[in-house]
Amino acid sequence: MKRKEFLQKTCPAFVLSVLASSEFLLACKDSATEEVAPQVVTSQEEKDYLARKKTIGAKGYLQENSMVYVDLAHATYSTLLSQGNFVNDQVNGVLLLRKDATTLMALDNCCPHLGSRNQWSYAANKFTCANHGNSYGIGTGQVANCSSNSSFGNLKAYKTSLYKDLLTISFA
Ligand code: FES
Repeated sequence: MKRKEFLQKTCPAFVLSVLASSEFLLACKDSATEEVAPQVVTSQEEKDYLARKKTIGAKGYLQENSMVYVDLAHATYSTLLSQGNFVNDQVNGVLLLRKDATTLMALDNCCPHLGSRNQWSYAANKFTCANHGNSYGIGTGQVANCSSNSSFGNLKAYKTSLYKDLLTISFA
């Protein structure tokens, strides 16, 4: 077979095979470099947290029915990130106490003696009202109710839950 005749017969098949293999290589490259998006699983608790954080406005808390949501990242409440600190939240009527790393308590800020709400100090697991100097505990049982002329007992505690920097208080 002469050279010219050989090229006429073999070139089309050769070109086709080269094209086919280059497409194959491109296809291989595409599938090899295609990244699989990481699958992010978000828990319902996390979804609720993110949604709630968006609804809490500039005040740092949100009242909704018998619940109050408090954003601990807000300047008013950020001291509660440290253990042993408390905030007298007079708007919501509670003493918020960071008891330990995982516990944040909400206690009625109405003094069981005569109802003063704004003279509290805290030390050694007791809140003391400077109005007449009575002290009240943070434990359970022997609840001394608001303005009941009690000079001892524990302050009324509300149910709380803490998720990251979001505190939920239930007044129900
Ligand atoms: S009102 Fe608090 S001690 Fe009297």
